[in-house]
Amino acid sequence: ESTLGAAAAQSGRYFGVAIAANRLSDSTYATIANREFNSVTAENEMKIDATQPQRGQFNFTAADRVYNWAVQNGKQVRGHTLAWHSQQPGWMQSLSGSALRQAMIDHINGVMAHYKGKIAQWDVVNEAFADGSSGARRDSNLQRTGNDWIEVAFRAARAADPSAKLCYNDYNVENWTWAKTQAMYAMVRDFKQRGVPIDCVGFQAHFNSGSPYNANFRTTLQNFAALGVDVAVTELDIQGASSTTYANVVNDCLAVSRCLGITVWGVRDSDSWRSGDTPLLFNNDGSKKPAYTAVLNALNGG
Ligand code: G3I
Repeated sequence: ESTLGAAAAQSGRYFGVAIAANRLSDSTYATIANREFNSVTAENEMKIDATQPQRGQFNFTAADRVYNWAVQNGKQVRGHTLAWHSQQPGWMQSLSGSALRQAMIDHINGVMAHYKGKIAQWDVVNEAFADGSSGARRDSNLQRTGNDWIEVAFRAARAADPSAKLCYNDYNVENWTWAKTQAMYAMVRDFKQRGVPIDCVGFQAHFNSGSPYNANFRTTLQNFAALGVDVAVTELDIQGASSTTYANVVNDCLAVSRCLGITVWGVRDSDSWRSGDTPLLFNNDGSKKPAYTAVLNALNGG
């Protein structure tokens, strides 16, 4: 196959991209995005500050621009993200305790109702674990509402849209030896044992150059899948865009039957949040980088 999406589809997977609504009017951008990818994540437009800027007043204008573009072009949509310490609107940042807990539930209900039956996977909770070696939860206003905030979010999400796969999503959890990976694993294992509804784990895969980041990523994916959840690579970008590292990540997903697909976090290097890192598959002029060819070849089986 000659495009990333079609090549991934040969094994029942998708190859997706993060889309920014305000770039869809750029024809180079939209042409590449439409041609190459068959899954879309809104880079910012479905986040809390975008979808509920004032308490109780939902706004899906930008989110629907991304959603409608995706669906009109035959792509599935990953929802990102419902409960997160970052990109909270001001009104939510100022809440705490039971008021914040209720606001989180109301937000999940409001956004998931708008897209009910339309989203393949939702990142219900994003980035809840601390960096470093503690294996602790990240301190945040949501965490301070009580350690059960994550399972409360997943239960609310299941009730709001039973058709969506519900994912936990995080970064620096790709290397099996890292404390953050182990902490996330313990949480997912506990959720599965107690029947907390969770269907998938998203590995963001924002990699720097060098080997520790994606070393043993396949082991990590396999170990999570063995808990009875799907896995996905949700925000892939690699500092310097090493062809070898990109191909290894693709082969890691292909090796795990429960790996649903891969999403790269932007189209061209100039669209990336990592300015100066040239981490994506397309040059600023829209031409394909060597990493693109490496990914396509891997998806095509070698
Ligand atoms: O939209 C405003 C604009 O009105 C304003 O003039 C401008 C001035 O700074 O800011 C614009 O908002 C920016 C927004 O991106 C849209 O471009 C924010 O400042 C900026 O902080 C925001 O960055 C996003 C970041 O999440 C915020 O946390 C990145 O685009 C987005 O790629 C990044 O994505 C995250 C994932 O959601 C979660 N995992 C990590 C990943 C990378 O940080």
